[in-house]
Amino acid sequence: MSNSFVEFRNVSFRYGDDQPWVLKNVSFQIQSDKWVAIIGHNGSGKSTIAKLMNGLLFPQEGEIIVNGLIINEETIWDVRKSVGMVFQNPDNQFVGTTVKDDVAFGLENRGIPREIMIRRIDESLKAVGMSEYINHEPHRLSGGQKQRVAIASVLAISPNLIILDEATAMLDPKGRFDILQVINSVRNQERLMLVTITHDLNEIGYADKVIVMNNGSVWAETTPRALFAKEKDLKQIGLDIPFVAKLAKEFIELGIPINKTPLNHDELLEELWIYHSKM
Ligand SMILES: Nc1ncnc2c1ncn2[C@@H]1O[C@H](COP(=O)(O)OP(=O)(O)OP(=O)(O)O)[C@@H](O)[C@H]1O
Ligand SMILES: [Mg+2]
Repeated sequence: MSNSFVEFRNVSFRYGDDQPWVLKNVSFQIQSDKWVAIIGHNGSGKSTIAKLMNGLLFPQEGEIIVNGLIINEETIWDVRKSVGMVFQNPDNQFVGTTVKDDVAFGLENRGIPREIMIRRIDESLKAVGMSEYINHEPHRLSGGQKQRVAIASVLAISPNLIILDEATAMLDPKGRFDILQVINSVRNQERLMLVTITHDLNEIGYADKVIVMNNGSVWAETTPRALFAKEKDLKQIGLDIPFVAKLAKEFIELGIPINKTPLNHDELLEELWIYHSKM
């Protein structure tokens, strides 16, 4: 038996009989307790995958299994209990008149008792650094603050899997780093699985696995490190390696050995120290 939590089996999808196929024969698995990043150029099918994963769309061909259930009209409500999703545009997902009501909404829907609800609201707003905005109106927040609240709403219901579809796109670099740290620590405490969708390769260093989409097909399924070593291939499909990986290449060209492609600045620094200490 595989221990995959999500499985796409030969999934093909189009937005209508007269429309072109958006996904063609897509298969992949997401193992329990893993963080998977999905990247690809605009229109490559990433958001479509996210919507299929929690049953907002159904495939015309193939099947999708989440938490042991094949997604269909009957299983959809059970599937959604275990999958939380934050979209690209947070404006479309606010329902409450205050930040507190908004985070409470998903909890009320799940019939969570009041005392637990209050604790979860406080904890999740704290996790995203938005505690002081608890009584604010969501539509008056900045784009990045809205995204934080949307992430808090999903964290509060503690699903098994959270899908973030470009959900940190509006944050400044520090905010993005902070949120990824928060999510990573929640992930470690609560055995949360994560799917993060982005076209920014700087964001995928934390992930256990990367699925690269190209024109509706899986182009590669690999680790971030292996992917960062493939600059030429990535450029051919309109993507690029992160700055830190480029810098490492420059050092190698200057004759400074970098033994493993760095995922972040700390790893690059470490390599440089090793070289320096041998001089
Ligand atoms: N509601 C829709 N109706 C018809 N076509 C759609 C719809 N939504 C998306 N598409 C088409 O499906 C393809 C894949 O779109 P999708 O939103 O999955 O891409 P994406 O990889 O998320 O892109 P981005 O990086 O821009 O968010 C695109 O060609 C898009 O035009
Ligand atoms: Mg998208």
